[in-house]
Amino acid sequence: MGRIPQTFIDELIARADIVELIGARVPLKKAGREYKACCPFHGEKTPSFWVSPEKQFYHCFGCGAHGTAIGFLMNYDRLSFPEAVEDLAARLGLEVPREGGDAGAAKRVDDEACELMGRVARFYMEQLARDERARQYVASRGLTNETLERFAIGYAPPSWNEVLRRFGGSETARRQLAEAGLIIERERGQVRDGERHYDRFRDRVMFPIRDARGRVIAFGGRIIDQGEPKYLNSPETALFHKGRELYGLFETRQSRTSLRRLLIVEGYMDVVRLHQSGIPYAVATLGTSTTPEHLKRVFRLVSEVVFAFDGDRAGRAAAWRALQHALPEAREGREMRFLFLPEGHDPDSLVGEEGREAFEARLAGALPLSEYFVRELSAQVDLSHADGRARFAESARPLVAKLPPGVYRELLIERVAEAIRLPAARLTALWSAGAKPASAASGTSGDTPPSQPARAAARPRSRTPMSAGRGSLVRQAVDRLLRYPAIASSVTPEERAGLDRVEEPGIELLRELLDNLRTQPAQSSGQVIQRWADRPEQESLVRLLQKDDLITDAGAAANELRAALRKLQELADARRFEALNAKVSRRGLEALDESELIEFKRLIARKPGADGPR
Ligand code: UTP
Ligand code: MN
Repeated sequence: MGRIPQTFIDELIARADIVELIGARVPLKKAGREYKACCPFHGEKTPSFWVSPEKQFYHCFGCGAHGTAIGFLMNYDRLSFPEAVEDLAARLGLEVPREGGDAGAAKRVDDEACELMGRVARFYMEQLARDERARQYVASRGLTNETLERFAIGYAPPSWNEVLRRFGGSETARRQLAEAGLIIERERGQVRDGERHYDRFRDRVMFPIRDARGRVIAFGGRIIDQGEPKYLNSPETALFHKGRELYGLFETRQSRTSLRRLLIVEGYMDVVRLHQSGIPYAVATLGTSTTPEHLKRVFRLVSEVVFAFDGDRAGRAAAWRALQHALPEAREGREMRFLFLPEGHDPDSLVGEEGREAFEARLAGALPLSEYFVRELSAQVDLSHADGRARFAESARPLVAKLPPGVYRELLIERVAEAIRLPAARLTALWSAGAKPASAASGTSGDTPPSQPARAAARPRSRTPMSAGRGSLVRQAVDRLLRYPAIASSVTPEERAGLDRVEEPGIELLRELLDNLRTQPAQSSGQVIQRWADRPEQESLVRLLQKDDLITDAGAAANELRAALRKLQELADARRFEALNAKVSRRGLEALDESELIEFKRLIARKPGADGPR
């Protein structure tokens, strides 16, 4: 998919009400023209988090967190940039356009591909209804007709070209089928019966994988008898990304029960059987471990997640992987728990055997993440010895570091500290000092002050490119542009051209900012900042913005800006004149080449007095 046009991002930020957006999640108090709150990104008791409706921007003086409405959604709801844009656009009832010529083109291709997949899925369903052996198989797996219908389960016939023949009538159709992973191109020179392709799925029970909107984007196919692989999945395609999709999520949302929690399992059959048994909130990862991306999606829907794993070794390994991926998503207000099934069972077999109530009772008793964390780590060491406790602390440390700062992380640290019988403050002090806790466990008294992990995670203050001296003129100009982006249009082409001769710290930033605003005007500071996301310069822009606003009118700001630009230009001219003049006084006018001579004359003509400022 193409990039999201900058103009659209600007529009979103302009139309979003950042106060309402943040206010819905964090209690805001009005303070003059801005709003303040206790920062949601680090633990604090006195508010240092500010939201400015004028700038469409938030910032925290405590931990340095800052951004626009988009940035807030990214950090608070933990969305990716495109997700935050989609989310914000959806709130405003806007469709997100994409760059690349025709903005709708990519979408149309996707729609066509999904439509084709949908038709193939219906074909598979018809085949299931017809095939006695396949019907018997799904019946033997306990699936009712209603379930087959709800999940659109089908059957791919044991043919090498059934889908190819029915759906690949034209070259375009064959290309679409191949791109969707439904047919596979033969090796060169392997054309058989005049066909270059063959069907990917043959003699398998077919599970369509649907996206959030219910469109078929991929398939999983289970072999009926013995054979390898047991499940064959669609390859990754433009539509299908295993690390994002969850099997059963669409069906879960369709079930219309009020969603409180999601159960994440490993298999297609687990999902289908759980739904059928009255647990319609089960979803499965698709042959991969749970990714942070999965969890981000999940936590947009519910605040409670239970992971279920088989009781065998593979299940325990999978659980530990899931935990590691889950740590960056752990935070207060989100509950994650781990359920281990009895050896030899998976959710499918267990719910089939004991029914919904017993299964839900197990869910209720699932281990909280923190308990599983401590239990698993302590299983590897002997906590009755200082050495074991030290090793425990060492192995916990990189894992704890994956958590975002906040209450939840503090609580987990407390839990780890408790397990090794050390005060939590002592443990964090040791961790942040980089010391081995071995000495701590054996009782060395230290006086390192406990450091707040939330603070430690705050962005380091990097050096600003606009440091001192005449840089302050540059800084002033940038400041005015940042607070009143619209004044960029008051700068004349000559004033702009004059900046090309300036060599001061930060001048490149000023030039770029000015050029950007002259070609793409912006209304708010937030829009400007957003354009600099991912750039190191953003940091210094934000710092400027966080300073108090001394002037409050755009006209005055424009005058100041232009005065600063002129002054910078004069300074550059004066400097240049001195350099050329020094050459001339040493070696005469011959020392200058042609262009330097022209420049020298120009500078003399423009010089206000006899001597330039210095
Ligand atoms: P399992 O091997 O645990 O199978 O794979 P299962 O889900 O219990 O399947 P049944 O009950 O025997 O039919 C768990 C999941 O791992 C993926 C599938 O998503 C499967 O549901 N998997 C497994 C594959 O993608 N390919 C395979 O060959 C096997
Ligand atoms: Mn199974």
